[in-house]
Amino acid sequence: MAHACGKVILLGEHAVVHGVPALAVGIERGAEARAERATETELVIESVRATPTDGTDLGRALSALLEALGVSGVRIGATSALPVGCGLGSSAALAVAIARAIQELDGAPLPERTLAAAMAWERVFHGNPSGIDTAAAVFGGCIWYTRQDGPVPLRLGRPFTLGVAVAGPAASTKRMVESVAQLAERRPAVFAKSLAGIEALVKNARLALEAGDLPGLGRLLDLNQMLLSGLMVSTEEIETACRLARTAGALGAKLTGAGGGGAVIALCDDDPEPVLAAWRSHGLTCFATRVGATLESP
Ligand code: MEV
Repeated sequence: MAHACGKVILLGEHAVVHGVPALAVGIERGAEARAERATETELVIESVRATPTDGTDLGRALSALLEALGVSGVRIGATSALPVGCGLGSSAALAVAIARAIQELDGAPLPERTLAAAMAWERVFHGNPSGIDTAAAVFGGCIWYTRQDGPVPLRLGRPFTLGVAVAGPAASTKRMVESVAQLAERRPAVFAKSLAGIEALVKNARLALEAGDLPGLGRLLDLNQMLLSGLMVSTEEIETACRLARTAGALGAKLTGAGGGGAVIALCDDDPEPVLAAWRSHGLTCFATRVGATLESP
């Protein structure tokens, strides 16, 4: 049985697609997969079945992943504990768990092969992925990520707890990334300023993470949320979930992932319960995850 973790982007989503650094952490919740040799290739994710030639996106993603691995004739079963399409990396976690399970048929999985196979899968669903989701699913822990140089593992000055809530119905990552690209085309000067602002926040957040300065990190999350709103990827539901978290004592809160719906994170110094209680009282599905322990090795 192979496992891959889900992810939360702390700061820098969307900007990372345009070359700016971003910070992400692997979370305990993730995906699992099991593979066996078979005459007919198929993938079953819970009750959904796909084959490489069935004409669905899932079938095309499977086909791309198998081609990247140079493999055929496998039956794969997979499950995910992550809500789908909410910005928590469910698609990348599934791809990484599946790529690992297939490689385990012949020996230990190689991180580079896993990354290449998972990126082939992600391109089918997301069009122009930066690769941060797959890197976080492969390496876990806390990473600094750029498109040009890939992931760099970071050592945290202090562990912390994140509250995670699903603030609204999932939006398509592909559509959200395209809408930001359209904004960049329509208003290049404004967009360049937003990117520069996000880059400064991400660089400062790296220093805060390494120094264990959680109040500082929280303020940077709030500022990143403001700039994401300016990129038109926030929603009323996301703003409400962030406000509820801050009022309940969170050090900072923002959307995570593509936005347009989906997940919100709240930085909690220690006890996430007041934030979770505030979200639950508004009917939001939520959980807490501890960041700082070593989560995954490739
Ligand atoms: C999606 O989890 C993060 C985005 O920045 C897209 C990407 O990096 O590929 C919105």
